[in-house]
Amino acid sequence: MNNFLSIYNLDHNLIQSFIKSAAETKNSKSDDDLNFANGKILASIFEKPSTRTRLSFDVAMRKLGGQCIIIDQNELHLGNNKESITDTAKTLSQYVDIVMYRSQSHESLQKLASFSKVPIINGLSDFSHPCQAMADLLTIYEKKSGFEGIKVNWIGPITNVARSWIEIANLNLGIKLKIFSNDYSISEYHKKCEIYKIKPDLDNMEVHNNLKKLDSADVVITDTWESMGETVNEKIIKNFSSYTVNQEMMRIFGDECIFMHCLPANRGQEVTPEVIDGPQSVIWDEAQNRLHIQKEIIKWCL
Ligand code: CP
Repeated sequence: MNNFLSIYNLDHNLIQSFIKSAAETKNSKSDDDLNFANGKILASIFEKPSTRTRLSFDVAMRKLGGQCIIIDQNELHLGNNKESITDTAKTLSQYVDIVMYRSQSHESLQKLASFSKVPIINGLSDFSHPCQAMADLLTIYEKKSGFEGIKVNWIGPITNVARSWIEIANLNLGIKLKIFSNDYSISEYHKKCEIYKIKPDLDNMEVHNNLKKLDSADVVITDTWESMGETVNEKIIKNFSSYTVNQEMMRIFGDECIFMHCLPANRGQEVTPEVIDGPQSVIWDEAQNRLHIQKEIIKWCL
């Protein structure tokens, strides 16, 4: 059974085929996919808010001919002292064909997958956000015509999207990842890997705590400084105040560098409005690509 929980344990040929197929079907007028998921039902469970993941999975499933049930956390028995993940997994497996789960903890996601008899997709956990990183890859493939030698800079805290990007860097797609973050965030990264027993190594990339090392890049990516659903604290603001992606940084990266952000964004915090809404930003292609990559992920899982 194909669960889509992480990127690091997938084969790079498979990832390449996801991206190529998504790019082809996005630009195709063919109706080939129209009945792919006919009679199938996707359940999407949200323990955190969502705009893009919620809509793109729902629309993707409908475009494949299937149907969706969207369930917020407070609509299920799942949770502390209510119903266990094990019983929830067994119940879901009786009714639906595939489950997308946005979970508070990666451990819950792993547990749901281990007891489910239907495929589980990681729609964001506190560890990773592989669907987002796949949409990012599709955007880079379209904008840069491939991956070989592409220089990607991650700027800011090592968030769940950044951890999925570290997994991508381990795939040997030809992408060169540089992470610019601070020592605290880098040590937290190692702790999270220990907790979830996921260890994509950092040997395939450069990790810097010094922004003076910034130089030209093809792609720059950042993310909000707080985890989803949390408020950003003074310590983070102080530690990352020099990490705001601004025009001066974009001049160092060069005119051909594209700016990416998974959204939602805090304009003025991790990125200035001039950059995120400026000519080098591709955030709306990136958001649109969530739909096209979700279709590929659903097809692979089914
Ligand atoms: N990037 C992303 O996952 O967006 P949502 O939180 O709106 O789903």
